[in-house]
Amino acid sequence: MEYTLCIIKPDAISKGFTGKIIDECLKAGFTIHGIRKVGLTRDQARSFYKVHEHKPFFEPLIAFMTSGPSVALVLKKENAIEDFRALMGETDARKAQKGTLRQKYGEDNRKNAVHGSDSPENAKKEIAFFFANIDLI
Ligand code: CMP
Repeated sequence: MEYTLCIIKPDAISKGFTGKIIDECLKAGFTIHGIRKVGLTRDQARSFYKVHEHKPFFEPLIAFMTSGPSVALVLKKENAIEDFRALMGETDARKAQKGTLRQKYGEDNRKNAVHGSDSPENAKKEIAFFFANIDLI
């Protein structure tokens, strides 16, 4: 079994899509191993997205991610990381394949409804970021 970190972002929360997104995750075969609602501070958002700090979209991304609550989930499934990335679709919601979470619930390349870890190493780091004492069993 593999674990991945999913964030349901402020745009999707404010539009009332949280339940629909969680339902789609369950229907796709993921189980929810951890879940919490979080209000990211600027420092937390900057730390989570540190890898992007020199990109032109960094400051608007931080403003967006601190604009309202998010929901962080640890999703569990065989091949969870790759399978969740397929379920999310491309970063830019306008280009995401039909039927993907970002195509259905996102707007553009910033307001893209969900985040998912991109590698086993990052999944481990990102899960620890939101769930300090979780047992990955
Ligand atoms: P996420 O998968 O959470 O990882 C980094 C985030 O930065 C991404 O989703 C988008 O929300 C945002 N992002 C990535 N590329 C761009 C871009 N070109 N313009 C604006 N925002 C972006």
